[in-house]
Amino acid sequence: MDILLIGKGGREHAIAWALKKSPKVNKIYCLPGNGGIEEIAECEKIGVMDFNRILKFLQEHPDIGLTVVAPDDPLAEGLVDILEENGYRAFGPNKAAAHIEASKSFAKNLMKKYNIPTPKFEVFDDYHEAIEYVRNQTYPIVVKADGLALGKGVIICNKIQDAENAVYDIMVAERFGKAGKTIVVEEFIEGKEVSILTFCDGKTIKPMVSSQDHKRVFDDDKGLNTGGMGAFSPSPVYTPQIADKVYNEIILPTMNAMNQEGRPFKGVLYFGLIMNEEGVKVLEYNARFGDPETQVVLPLLETDLFDIMQAVIDQKLDQIKIKWQNKSSVCIILTSGGYPLEYQSGYKINIGDVEDDILLFHAGTKKKDGDLRTAGGRVLGVTAVKENLDKAREAVYNNIKKINFEGMHYRKDIGIKND
Ligand code: GLY
Repeated sequence: MDILLIGKGGREHAIAWALKKSPKVNKIYCLPGNGGIEEIAECEKIGVMDFNRILKFLQEHPDIGLTVVAPDDPLAEGLVDILEENGYRAFGPNKAAAHIEASKSFAKNLMKKYNIPTPKFEVFDDYHEAIEYVRNQTYPIVVKADGLALGKGVIICNKIQDAENAVYDIMVAERFGKAGKTIVVEEFIEGKEVSILTFCDGKTIKPMVSSQDHKRVFDDDKGLNTGGMGAFSPSPVYTPQIADKVYNEIILPTMNAMNQEGRPFKGVLYFGLIMNEEGVKVLEYNARFGDPETQVVLPLLETDLFDIMQAVIDQKLDQIKIKWQNKSSVCIILTSGGYPLEYQSGYKINIGDVEDDILLFHAGTKKKDGDLRTAGGRVLGVTAVKENLDKAREAVYNNIKKINFEGMHYRKDIGIKND
């Protein structure tokens, strides 16, 4: 069967790479793809929100039997619904289910209603009420734009002035457009963050191996938040005992809650968790594969991803045993200098004698006149899979020395601080 994949980042490269291993997958198309994805898939410059052209592409390629929608925006805007209405088979939640990521206030109220542990919060759509509230809190607190904001809509505030500025930026200056019409103000919780991606068909929900993202741009979690500077899997702090408890108290109740609300979830449901001595709470849901977590989780997957996706669509996930390699993986993101602020693109990427078992997942790259060039903030994800975390980290950092481009930046501490 031919497959269409929607998206263009490292996550999509990892999905394409995993699907390509399936003997049942013939050709992969990717819209719009990137300089690395085009080595394993046929890419065409059609944007992920250009639903009419995506439909036309499907009409012109009748051998495509499955469309995988990876990014948040098209999911939130109902691409899966449109594909299904037009008779196409699609992997990903419909618009009603993707709302669990598209509206933070919806997600928080869902957790409150169904007793799913989450930090305390209040929702505001009035600026003055929000300001009055933040003036009377103990700090730090977290101010969040309700809607999708390219991962930048969550602001940790250490003092009243920071929170007043954040509320103003989001609600009045409309820094994130209509995503900031409503805000959530949340209690700040200290703890270890763990990401749990799950496959969910609405009847059965199966967690993938745990992972940990690193959002800050510099070592020791310093500097601005980014789309992710690296990840490792599995997380040593997420023990089987904790996993059982989280499954029973968070994961299964969330699937059931979505069913109760008439929004059955089919696709990848992501749980961003925070753990401390008080227990585990949900910081955020995503309605898709996380990035860069996908770049460490899918390399550990032994079961055919295509079979899993088909089972999710057909609500037969209970019939599939999902197997994972008993190994560890580490992914380091190489970024353009200056990211997540301003940066220059178009630099030649030199990839030396990188070892065969190292995976290079491209994000912001493009091919120009036969050369690979930088074309975004996050450029490449470099992943190693080894017997344990130390060996994976050593392999990945040794191989990064063989890659360079003007201004290249990466964190040197991914997988070191892991307890
Ligand atoms: N790593 C978090 C996300 O994908 O949004």
